[in-house]
Amino acid sequence: MALRPIIILPDSRLRTMSEPVARVDAAIRTLMDDMMETMYEAPGIGLAAIQIAVPQRVVVIDVAKEGDAPEPLFIANPEILWSSPEIGTYEEGCLSIPDYYAEVKRPAKIGVRFLDRDNNVVEREVDGLLATCIQHEIDHLNGVLFIDHISRLKRERVTKKFAKAAKFAGDYEEVAPATKAQD
Ligand code: NI
Repeated sequence: MALRPIIILPDSRLRTMSEPVARVDAAIRTLMDDMMETMYEAPGIGLAAIQIAVPQRVVVIDVAKEGDAPEPLFIANPEILWSSPEIGTYEEGCLSIPDYYAEVKRPAKIGVRFLDRDNNVVEREVDGLLATCIQHEIDHLNGVLFIDHISRLKRERVTKKFAKAAKFAGDYEEVAPATKAQD
């Protein structure tokens, strides 16, 4: 397993529409394992493949509370089957938009279908933080970021801040940060 560098705003690859996987084979399992390790290391509760610059419809999630047993979820080709009319609000963040948080409203409950790590079709009904997290990650697969769900004013403010930081890093940092790797 290996840690992979996470791309951040304003990297235009975050706006890519990711492609479905044909099936969850050994190569996809390796991708999933690398993603899970990268997500735990960050640390975060969800990561989409495009966040490590891989445009495939693969997501990893673990919303278990700190101190509780891990609940890793490996997801490929997720589809939302239905959404509840009830809305849930969570303060969201994103590993590709570090240190920025904002409240987002989404359907509180969803039905979702996906392929798991063993290429089995799974259908689940989820709510709470997991429902929010799955919707946030599916957005990534469609090139959508959580800041697209907040006010235009707030979105422009955070986008500008990250564009400025990227420009600064480009001007003054000649060597890209070394990527960490481990077995
Ligand atoms: Ni995210």
